Amino acid sequence: MTAHYQVHGDVAVITLDNPPMNGLGLSTRQGIVAGLGQAQEDPAVRAVVITGKGKAFSSGADIKEFGTDRAIQDPNLLSVILALEHSSKPVVAAVHSICMGGGLELALGCHYRVVAPGCSVALPEVKLGLIPGAGGTQRLPRVIGVETALNMIATGEPVKSELLASLPGQKLFDKLAASAETLMDEALALARDAAAKQAAGSALPLVRNLPCKHPQGDAYFQFARNMVKGMAKNYPAPVKCVDAVEAATKKKFDEGMAYEREVFTNLMFTPECRALRHLFVAERAASKIPDVPEDTPKREIKKMAVIGAGTMGGGISMNFLNAGIPVVILETKQEALDRGVATIRKNYESQVKKGKLKPEKYEERMALLTTTLDYKDLGDADMVIEAVFEDMGVKEAVFKQLDAVMKPGAILASNTSTLDVDAIASFTSRPQDVIGTHFFSPANVMKLLEVVRGEKTAKDVLATVMALGKKIKKTCVVSGVCDGFIGNRMIEQYGRQGGFLLEEGCTPQQVDRAIEKFGFAMGPFRMGDLAGNDIGWAIRKRRYVEKPDMKYSKTADLLCEMGRFGQKTGAGWYDYVPGKRDAIPNAQVVEMIEKHRAAMGIQPRKISDEEIVQRLVFSLVNEAAHILEEGIASRASDIDMVYLTGYGFPIWRGGPMHYADQVGLFNVCEAMKRFAQNPLDDAKFWQPAPLLQRLVAEGKTFTG
Ligand code: NAI
Repeated sequence: MTAHYQVHGDVAVITLDNPPMNGLGLSTRQGIVAGLGQAQEDPAVRAVVITGKGKAFSSGADIKEFGTDRAIQDPNLLSVILALEHSSKPVVAAVHSICMGGGLELALGCHYRVVAPGCSVALPEVKLGLIPGAGGTQRLPRVIGVETALNMIATGEPVKSELLASLPGQKLFDKLAASAETLMDEALALARDAAAKQAAGSALPLVRNLPCKHPQGDAYFQFARNMVKGMAKNYPAPVKCVDAVEAATKKKFDEGMAYEREVFTNLMFTPECRALRHLFVAERAASKIPDVPEDTPKREIKKMAVIGAGTMGGGISMNFLNAGIPVVILETKQEALDRGVATIRKNYESQVKKGKLKPEKYEERMALLTTTLDYKDLGDADMVIEAVFEDMGVKEAVFKQLDAVMKPGAILASNTSTLDVDAIASFTSRPQDVIGTHFFSPANVMKLLEVVRGEKTAKDVLATVMALGKKIKKTCVVSGVCDGFIGNRMIEQYGRQGGFLLEEGCTPQQVDRAIEKFGFAMGPFRMGDLAGNDIGWAIRKRRYVEKPDMKYSKTADLLCEMGRFGQKTGAGWYDYVPGKRDAIPNAQVVEMIEKHRAAMGIQPRKISDEEIVQRLVFSLVNEAAHILEEGIASRASDIDMVYLTGYGFPIWRGGPMHYADQVGLFNVCEAMKRFAQNPLDDAKFWQPAPLLQRLVAEGKTFTG
């Protein structure tokens, strides 16, 4: 059992011991109930203290049990809390560090609560598309008031224990301990005090017995509901938080509990909740690499070097400066360095102006930045990231110089988006130290980092870069070496479908609108305008030579021939007004598409939004299935993480793979076969990938 029982004089102490966060898994729940039982039977015990070992009181549900029977097996959390309430001897929760979700609900079932300062307290279930399901919505308003409780429940955000303990009239914490060190002694003292009070005839206090009222109930809940609705657009759970807290003010406690349970159970089966739970698990899985154990020793990274102070080099450097790691940037010319540093300053200054960065922090960060034109100045860096022009010749020259000057054991990374990392590694005498770090633009903002594992990349190099990525707050996903890695290799197929849709009868606006309605942050044409249509053009020119059989729509090339490269030229698929990002439809673009159609002898047809969305999303899915089968990605959920954090795929749909699973892989395959019949599309591409076919045959899913 992962909860231990120990008697300290006349007080029994139950200690949750389920590392790392004392998740309330089955064996922990069994331990609590067993301990409580022992305490009831031992005449020498007068009171009970319940606490958590290590880094948390409890973070709530045990994620290892997510979606398994163990999560609901008896004693479930509700019955554990009931057992606490029914204890004939006072139970004191000694709360510290982290008290979240089920952990807080457990504490609210105790008779008394003592908390250490600095403890993060939250009911974060809404972030998983749920409401608290073990009394949180009914008990929390009773101890900290309806409004504060609803704020916490509807946002899921943590609040510090000192703040909660200072709320006037609060009954959440009976005592704020002087420090974490004195917490246990203070809890034991409170337990003895409580036992004495009980002996003197006082009844044990229960949160369920406290009143729950709001003076302007109806008006307040109406207001709260409108607010939350406005913010929660695509998610049902936040509004349900309002309903459940309102029930606490209107229903008897047990009826409120039943209502909470019903809402919780219904939410559990919504697609949004499924997607958010998938994301939660996917996020944690992505940092694990099947053949690289978590305890792999890591190299120390105390100083970074960055080659190239352009768009990416500057943004990449900012990540490390933000994390307090010194950076030296190397360029070929002083002007380029000056320009790069000026851009970094401008970015920080705009953060300072918006109040997002304190001026002294800005100075601190800039003080960590140095520049150079001389490779010799890189000798003391522990890792270097190259972000020079996307040209193999230039990369070769840079990596040869790096090989000559970097100290032994330094990590040599390339930010290339399309070039072969193994070829880059071969320019050095130490391919085991070479890796790809594919940042997304703007590199100081975008969460995604594709970590590209070369054929010879050493395991400790990979482990070090993954840990470093976490330190700079990126979501790291490992990709094998292939053209475009995971994300861009898939987006190329999506872009190709966008082109075919134009040829067959759509306008850019119609395609963008359909996929944006589906939930993408931006449709393919607005995205092209943002990234620069010339980039895709350059890639296609290469493809025409490398893969002459691959079918492309010529519309994007014709657009580039018109000089319409996107936002940077003020004109792309749309027009742009300086300083604004609004995409304004352009008649010449529509005319260009119509002329092209006529030249190809295509009779335009009306295409439904459903077809647009399916062709775009399933093109991602089919390419992803190949990527998975080739071992470029280790798991389907990694691909979802790439799309959720780097490509604006709607979070509440869980990523392309999870979405395909929800649609049903059989249905996905059938749609692909239909698309293959379209003479204007690419029949070869639409053959369902072998992995997809196998999964359908075996009745399996990508992520299940
Ligand atoms: P950029 O053109 O903005 O910057 C490149 C910089 O490298 C320039 O300042 C240039 O002076 C410098 N440079 C060129 N040759 C050099 C050399 N031999 N030694 C030192 N510095 C040199 O290019 P950008 O967009 O920053 O791209 C850099 C790399 O990042 C490329 O490999 C690109 O494919 C990749 N990338 C770009 C993304 C983007 O959205 N721009 C996204 C992800 C990766």
